Amino acid sequence: MKKGLKIVTIGGGSSYTPELIEGFIKYYPELPVSELWLVDVEEGKEKLEIVGNLAKRMVQKAGVPIKIYLTLDRKEALQSADFVTTQFRVGLLEARKKDESIPLKHGVLGQETNGPGGLFKAFRTIPVILDICRDIEELCPNAWLINFTNPAGMVTEAVLRYSNIRRVVGLCNVPIGMEMGVAKLLGVDHHRVRIDFAGLNHMVYGLDVFVDGVSVKDQVFSLINDPKNSITMQNIHAMGWEPEFLKALDVFPCPYHNYYYKSGEMLEKELKNYKDGGTRAEVVKKLEDELFELYKDPDLAIKPPQLEKRGGAYYSDAAVRLIHSMYTDKRDIQAVNTINRGAISSLPYDSAVELSCIITKDGPKPISVGELPIQIRGLVQQIKSFERVSIEAAISGDYGTALLAMTINPLVPSDRLAKVILDEMLEAHKDYLPQFQKRREIEWKI
Ligand code: G6P
Repeated sequence: MKKGLKIVTIGGGSSYTPELIEGFIKYYPELPVSELWLVDVEEGKEKLEIVGNLAKRMVQKAGVPIKIYLTLDRKEALQSADFVTTQFRVGLLEARKKDESIPLKHGVLGQETNGPGGLFKAFRTIPVILDICRDIEELCPNAWLINFTNPAGMVTEAVLRYSNIRRVVGLCNVPIGMEMGVAKLLGVDHHRVRIDFAGLNHMVYGLDVFVDGVSVKDQVFSLINDPKNSITMQNIHAMGWEPEFLKALDVFPCPYHNYYYKSGEMLEKELKNYKDGGTRAEVVKKLEDELFELYKDPDLAIKPPQLEKRGGAYYSDAAVRLIHSMYTDKRDIQAVNTINRGAISSLPYDSAVELSCIITKDGPKPISVGELPIQIRGLVQQIKSFERVSIEAAISGDYGTALLAMTINPLVPSDRLAKVILDEMLEAHKDYLPQFQKRREIEWKI
């Protein structure tokens, strides 16, 4: 790799960009980023300019020589990049609002990355990421693609199985958030905490939890039974676990498991929010409007603390720590989404899995897990089947495959309801789902 790194961030107009900038500043000069290209689409132009100017003020104030470029021309940006990070949202927050509210209208959980919402986010995102991959192949074939775009597991698997890009890593803030949460609960520095992770994105478990190499799983379990000690994210209302359940489960669930092990309560809570004024998309829209007002302030040159109200806490730590370890061949342990290749024998060989890996300059090397414990194996396998069928539908635009994906998701209670929700969502999102339109046209002609 050359001396000064060129990083390209697709979806650069995101409100999360100051997180990333803060991380690059923190790691400079060990991670000598010389160019950071923030790329967005026409619809995101205004946000790109506002957040891009804040990014320029941040690096200037910090006195680091990172040159920031703002552009709507993805191809120009990608030329000879070393790392490409993706954090875009196809259809913006309006699409998220539909993903969350349409299922809820039918009494089914409406969540950004799980259930019908996650399925449609995958439908909108996968064709776009594959298009980005074609550009990477042509313009920067040696670059590493670090994907944060949700649903991060499915997006990473689509790249692995349906593009020619092999240098891809999917990243989420859930594992680092769980480690930070444990550190806080136990009152120890987070560098001393390590969790052995295994599973899928937003379906990951901590198989064991260590402080200085000694298991503290039982101690952590007894603490997190209490709702006030819940380890969660800003976007998930956690209620604490039944102590006997947690003990029997014997692994540490992630915040998203609330949707599976407390489906009834979570649905009730979401329906209440929906009726009282809106889903998480609406909360986030308000937060974003406030954030962009702050970002416009020419005197602001740091990441504002208000950004911590978003679910993506520790995102900059996770992202920059990963890029740093790859660049320096650090060989430390981090949990990322990567190709399984038998590391979790209960899951397909060519699938993306989220697990603890050794991070090297040649990418993440998974730490082998073997079979998942029987009590979690079935759910993880069921979600992986859902993911694989969803990806196939996202690419083919085939209606039957889409209905199959919707119906086999454990958060959707019936095939009939699956069809009702699918039809309504296909119509609501049709501008962002050309693959389904094209397929219909072909079938017509036949
Ligand atoms: C969590 C997830 C992220 C997700 C975020 C949503 O942190 O791990 O994948 O993007 O929540 O947060 P938001 O503030 O947009 O609801």
